[in-house]
Order: sequence, then structure tokens, then C-alpha cells
Amino acid sequence: MSPAEPGHASGALKPGPEVREMFGRIVGRYDLMNRLMTGGRDVAWRNLAVRAALSGYPCGTARVVDVATGTGDLALALAAAGAAEVIGVDFAAPMLRAAAAKPVASEAGRLSWVVADAMALPFADGAFDACTVAFGLRNMPDYGLALAEMTRVLRPGGRFVCLEMTPLRTPLVGTAFGWYFEQVVPLLGGLLSSDREAYRYLPASVAAFPDAPALASMMERAGLTDARFRKLGGGTVALHTGVKVRGGEGSPVSA
Ligand SMILES: C[S@@+](CC[C@H](N)C(=O)[O-])C[C@H]1O[C@@H](n2cnc3c(N)ncnc32)[C@H](O)[C@@H]1O
Repeated sequence: MSPAEPGHASGALKPGPEVREMFGRIVGRYDLMNRLMTGGRDVAWRNLAVRAALSGYPCGTARVVDVATGTGDLALALAAAGAAEVIGVDFAAPMLRAAAAKPVASEAGRLSWVVADAMALPFADGAFDACTVAFGLRNMPDYGLALAEMTRVLRPGGRFVCLEMTPLRTPLVGTAFGWYFEQVVPLLGGLLSSDREAYRYLPASVAAFPDAPALASMMERAGLTDARFRKLGGGTVALHTGVKVRGGEGSPVSA
């Protein structure tokens, strides 16, 4: 599949081993770069994702998988907010080591870290009440198959939450943000993490990612219903939610 085809991430790096190695290299400065790039807003966005994932579940009842958990900020926030159990999954072991080294709130739910590929999650069908993914889906080799796999591990009626960058195609703001994202971010990333390539991959992968309505349609094809989104960060980020269809499976198609 060529990088330009829908359902496939694009950019200088290929999804899979190259992306995994890249995240393994930038782990030391990953959290700092997130805070700097977003002016600290990423923390508030993850908190909105937590609220969306846990709303309606009494404290200490929800079992959640956070896919592409990276350095674990969303998994930690879920556990601190009242999930009974959170499993953070990522295929880059150095990212998970950084996650596991972070302090955990004393009243937090059970938290564990699993090295695995999101395209083949090592969990039974219907194992979780909620599945979250933050800034991860865009890096996967086939968005439709990844959505279908995350839906598979949800129980019927379980909640899917995706926080992700979304292409900004408005002329004026889009141009200004494009300059920031394509020039300033790689420069900053190069200075801080000594890996300019990683921060060139970031805008390229966002440009290739489906826009918010298209992603909502892909979610529905993957077996989720009531797919909705709201834009954050001036339209640069989207928070999608959906619910696993009860009594039926979607078709795991790419686009
Ligand atoms: C941009 S980071 C996001 C980390 C974290 N969720 C956050 O909110 O900061 C993307 C993460 O996705 C992981 N990732 C990408 N493709 C993956 C895959 N196929 N399976 C598991 N993890 C993957 C990378 O290793 C990386 O840690």
C-alpha cells in the first residue's frame, strides 16, 4: 500500500518498526516536547478523554485499555480518576519503561503495562469497558484495521475514545499553523531531542490522517455506533467517541 492511500499513515518514516524505533529514541524529551508544542494544553485534552471514557461508570468499576499509551500520561490519569483497572499498551518498550517509572496516585486503580502491537492486541474479545487511544492511531499502518482491533476488545456497549491531531484545512489559520507545525516544531524537536526527523514525521503523519468526519465514519464501519467528535486546540485536535454496537460486529475495512 502506498503512503498516499487512505487507511495508511504517511511521512518520512514507515509505520511499524521505523516508528517504534523513533519513539524509542525520543522518549527522554517526549513529555517536555508535548508540553512545549501545545502550551501545556495536552494535559487538559487528556483529562477530557478521561471524562469521556469513564462517564457513567461508578468509581472503581471500569476496566480500561489505553492503546499506544507511550509514556503513560492518559493511563495514569484514567487510573487516578477512578478506573478499577487500566492496562497501558505500547509496542515501544522504552516508552513503557518511562511510563512505569512515573509516580502513581495512592488511591489509583490497578495499573499495568504491556508491550504489544495495537494491530494484534493480546486480549480476549469484549475484555474492556472502555478503550482509549491518544495521539496513537495516526501512527498505525492501517487506521481501519486498528479501529476494528480496538473495537474487538471492547464489550458490547463499551466506550471508545480517540484523542488525535486532525488536519487543519482552513486557509488562513491553516497556513499559520502549517508554518508553526512544519518549521518551528521540527526545529524545536531537533534542538531538544536531537531528532529533527521525528518531528518532521509528526506534521506529515497529520496531513495524511483522515479529517474528523471521515474518522467518525471509519469508526462506524469498524463496529462503533454514535460516533461523535469535538474539535480542540483551535481545530488542530479532535476528541472522538463511540460505543461498541450491541449484538453485531462491524466490517474491518481500511477506508
Ligand atoms: C505520539 S505517542 C502517544 C503516546 C501517548 N498516548 C500520549 O498521549 O502521549 C504514540 C505512541 O504510539 C505508539 N505506537 C505507534 N504505533 C503503535 C502500534 N502499532 N502498536 C502499539 N503502539 C504503537 C508509539 O510507540 C508511541 O508510544
